[in-house]
Amino acid sequence: MKGYSAYLQLPQTLWYLVQATLVLAQSKQSLSLNSLSTFSGTTLSGTPLFALPSAPQLSVSFALCSAGSSARFFVSNSSAISVPSSLGGDDVFEIQLNDGYGSWTGAAPDGGTIAVEDIGQTNFEIGVSNSGQSLFCTDVMHQVLDTLPLLGDTTSNQVLLFSPPFSPPPIDQPTYPNYTLPPANLSQPSPPSTSPNYTLVLSPSSSSLTSLPQTGCSLLSTTSSGMQLSQDLWLRDADGWRYQWLMGGLTSVTNYTAYVIQDQTKVSGPIYFATKSAGFPCPLVHSLPYCPSTAFAVPLPAINTAYDSTTLPSQVSSPLLQYVSNFTTMLTTFACGRDLYSPLQTCADCQREYRKWLCSISFPRCSENPLSSSQSPSSGTQVPFPALAPPSQRNQFLPPVNYTYMTLLPCLETCNAVDRACPNFLGIKCPVPQFNAGASYGVGFVDSGEEDVLGNGKTGTAQDQWGNVWCNGF
Ligand SMILES: *[C@@H]1O[C@H](CO)[C@@H](O)[C@H](O)[C@H]1NC(C)=O
Ligand SMILES: *[C@@H]1O[C@H](CO)[C@@H](O)[C@H](O)[C@H]1NC(C)=O
Ligand SMILES: *[C@@H]1O[C@H](CO)[C@@H](O)[C@H](O)[C@H]1NC(C)=O
Ligand SMILES: *[C@@H]1O[C@H](CO)[C@@H](O)[C@H](O)[C@H]1NC(C)=O
Ligand SMILES: *[C@@H]1O[C@H](CO)[C@@H](O)[C@H](O)[C@H]1NC(C)=O
Ligand SMILES: *[C@@H]1O[C@H](CO)[C@@H](O)[C@H](O)[C@H]1NC(C)=O
Ligand SMILES: *[C@@H]1O[C@H](CO)[C@@H](O)[C@H](O)[C@H]1NC(C)=O
Repeated sequence: MKGYSAYLQLPQTLWYLVQATLVLAQSKQSLSLNSLSTFSGTTLSGTPLFALPSAPQLSVSFALCSAGSSARFFVSNSSAISVPSSLGGDDVFEIQLNDGYGSWTGAAPDGGTIAVEDIGQTNFEIGVSNSGQSLFCTDVMHQVLDTLPLLGDTTSNQVLLFSPPFSPPPIDQPTYPNYTLPPANLSQPSPPSTSPNYTLVLSPSSSSLTSLPQTGCSLLSTTSSGMQLSQDLWLRDADGWRYQWLMGGLTSVTNYTAYVIQDQTKVSGPIYFATKSAGFPCPLVHSLPYCPSTAFAVPLPAINTAYDSTTLPSQVSSPLLQYVSNFTTMLTTFACGRDLYSPLQTCADCQREYRKWLCSISFPRCSENPLSSSQSPSSGTQVPFPALAPPSQRNQFLPPVNYTYMTLLPCLETCNAVDRACPNFLGIKCPVPQFNAGASYGVGFVDSGEEDVLGNGKTGTAQDQWGNVWCNGF
């Protein structure tokens, strides 16, 4: 019996020798904590090894930078394993890649080792981090974010796009007796001193970005379409700050795919959107501090790029601000902050919802019939037709235009939100679906349209990730 086990031990010992020489032959490259490293398959040979730092909690993530790789990634957090491999063993983990990325998180009190098999010619990245150390949440360096980019609107050759939100502003409810509401002519606060680095990646959907590894390095290596006309930080709403991009130089009647890459490794997207037909006449309006979520095409005279607060005629902005300030005067005849008119809503909520509604009424949104493809998605379900209407309730303060256009009606929910948020004595009444609300609002998309019933609409949303826009929810 003793002899038998001695016989078994021999090859084992030999195996360690083999491993030892392997390790000597290809030294381990050390990766440090909270670092991102890029490697090229063309300059690595055999099975490259990497040494991991020790940490009570370590996250290691991998990303392929190009398609067609069959590389396999092994992690071990045991100091007894010098070459983790497909042979397995205690504390050896093969990292399954999904859409080109994968990760491992666990304890690594003695550090660990990474081995990459079948590496081929691919470039790949390894991210090493520990819990709670990075500024913008999250431990794992490579990941697909839950939050999508946001489409503002398109013209025939431009698009307004937003990154996911970050740094939500502090909520400061005014208090009695000094109940001071924001001024009609709101200004944007100064942006946060640090922000994630967001990069927009944009391409016609026909070039199939979605078939690439869905990793930052893979998407950033593609040639993005269009020409950046502006990029800035914008506080649209309580969700927080966003990067705002105005892109030009796009092709009309084309379905585009967009991603936003955060800090080169985190992927938000894809979203899709369609550019309008070549003759679409309305310019985009954006970056109005007093209408912070307005970001769509409006029937205004043609302009070089797009309208913002510096170019919007004051004959349009002045009455709008007057409406807000007159409304605020009426609202504050109520003892805001001392008396309650609702257990849930405050005068500040009322003013905010009124402003949002007023902006969506004062700026009619231009639109046109959608691309035919969006009406027959592969799922087979019928996509509802958007709330398009001829321009009937045009804001009297808008300067005349020499073209015809269709409007996309505001979602009825923007009106119902004012009704819900404001005291009764203001007499706010929204039309009801049974009684012609559809003439002035998009009805039944977000909410069902039944009074006081939230949700259950046909689409549940004003617009979706696939480029469908049903009513103006801005
Ligand atoms: C390695 O990680 C696994 C999974 O997190 C854990 O169960 C194991 O205890 C770790 N090994 C060491 C040596 O810490
Ligand atoms: C009332 O509040 C506003 C804004 O919060 C502030 O600017 C102002 O100084 C306050 N006035 C008094 C008398 O406290
Ligand atoms: C942001 O990321 C892009 C893309 O990787 C990079 O080119 C740029 O230098 C980064 N900017 C900053 C300020 O880090
Ligand atoms: C409409 O007006 C714009 C200037 O606002 C001008 O450039 C354009 O040629 C006009 N178009 C027509 C069809 O008259
Ligand atoms: C609104 O405020 C900005 C400065 O914040 C100012 O430049 C602009 O003229 C004001 N607009 C109106 C209509 O008063
Ligand atoms: C706002 O109130 C003033 C003073 O009462 C009034 O002259 C003005 O017409 C009102 N503006 C609007 C847009 O209702
Ligand atoms: C754009 O393309 C995507 C993916 O092919 C598709 O699901 C979507 O419906 C298209 N959107 C439009 C507006 O055509």
